[in-house]
Amino acid sequence: MAVLSKTLGIDLGTVFTRVADAEQVLLEEPTVVAIEIDHKKMVEKMVAAGHQARDMAGRVPDSIEVTRPLQNGVIADYEITQTLLSYLLQRVSGPLRFFRPQVMISVPYGVTSVERRAVYEAVMEAGSREAGLIQQSLAAALGIDLPIGSPSGNMVISLGGGCTEAAVLAMYSIVSADTLRSGGLELDEAIVTYVRRKYGVVIGQPTAEQLKIKIGAAVPQDNELSMEVQGQDQVTGLPRPVTLATGEVVEALQDPLKRITETCRRVLEKTPPELVSDVIDRGVAICGGGALLRGVDKLLTKSLGIPAYLVDNPLTCVVEGAVKALGMQPVLRRSLPQV
Ligand SMILES: Nc1ncnc2c1ncn2[C@@H]1O[C@H](COP(=O)(O)OP(=O)(O)OP(=O)(O)O)[C@@H](O)[C@H]1O
Ligand SMILES: [Mg+2]
Repeated sequence: MAVLSKTLGIDLGTVFTRVADAEQVLLEEPTVVAIEIDHKKMVEKMVAAGHQARDMAGRVPDSIEVTRPLQNGVIADYEITQTLLSYLLQRVSGPLRFFRPQVMISVPYGVTSVERRAVYEAVMEAGSREAGLIQQSLAAALGIDLPIGSPSGNMVISLGGGCTEAAVLAMYSIVSADTLRSGGLELDEAIVTYVRRKYGVVIGQPTAEQLKIKIGAAVPQDNELSMEVQGQDQVTGLPRPVTLATGEVVEALQDPLKRITETCRRVLEKTPPELVSDVIDRGVAICGGGALLRGVDKLLTKSLGIPAYLVDNPLTCVVEGAVKALGMQPVLRRSLPQV
């Protein structure tokens, strides 16, 4: 799909990268790249990206490495991130020789200037004409259409795959915020550990993620579901099925979920009381893929003592907000991070 949009928003996430123009989300691809490594010639070549690369994980010869170039919301492998961004930009805009977009790309709150610089350089080298950065929470708030231009407080919690961000915003800026470098992938790992300890069966991250999405929950549920998955016996190494119930997944997720709720509480604690009282009136917006975990709204409502609700566009609000921000530069200028 080649469109001649001049301005693009990009949400460079740990698990998914999304690109949108002012009208619509143009693509959503896993932030995964498959690289063929020629050790003799010391060269690396991208063989697949996005969905195609993710489907190759664990099914390819040793000469091909399937990697996530972002970890916990920040670039862990610069070259691969840049290759991925350039591939995605060409997919939405056609050959970049003819058309170089102006982009706004999201970064987690509280990343270092070196980490911000890496994102800026990567997206510029990928073929942008001009690039601006926006904090993930600010972009999310714009994408959700929260009234953040007013002097009253609004709170957004973003539960991503690699990081969790909580922020209170007013007057188009972030008043208080915190980022925990842990998210959905850590929830998957907690399920892997639980199944290994309880049943002596080893499962992979994708299987753990399926359990989380299909039967998992943040708090105990009235209707218990169950699911059988295939694993590998820790002792014999042979395949062994194991059936898990919702209650077990809830138990497995408690520790990482506690770290998430504590991060959100700390943000409220350092927010001025006047703004907290606005948040109490308005509620707390939850977004990111983790917002889809059953009962996460109940868990946050209970631990914060403030009603928390799932937004209508939890997966796309950041990229939609980023592209919106391009048209609001005069009011946002003070708030956007400098490179
Ligand atoms: N129904 C669901 N229940 C629980 N978790 C879910 C569900 N759907 C998606 N997720 C999780 O959401 C995460 C991906 O969310 P998202 O796309 O917001 O992350 P990201 O933007 O790539 O990461 P980050 O913002 O942390 O860099 C994955 O860990 C995925 O397992
Ligand atoms: Mg995200």
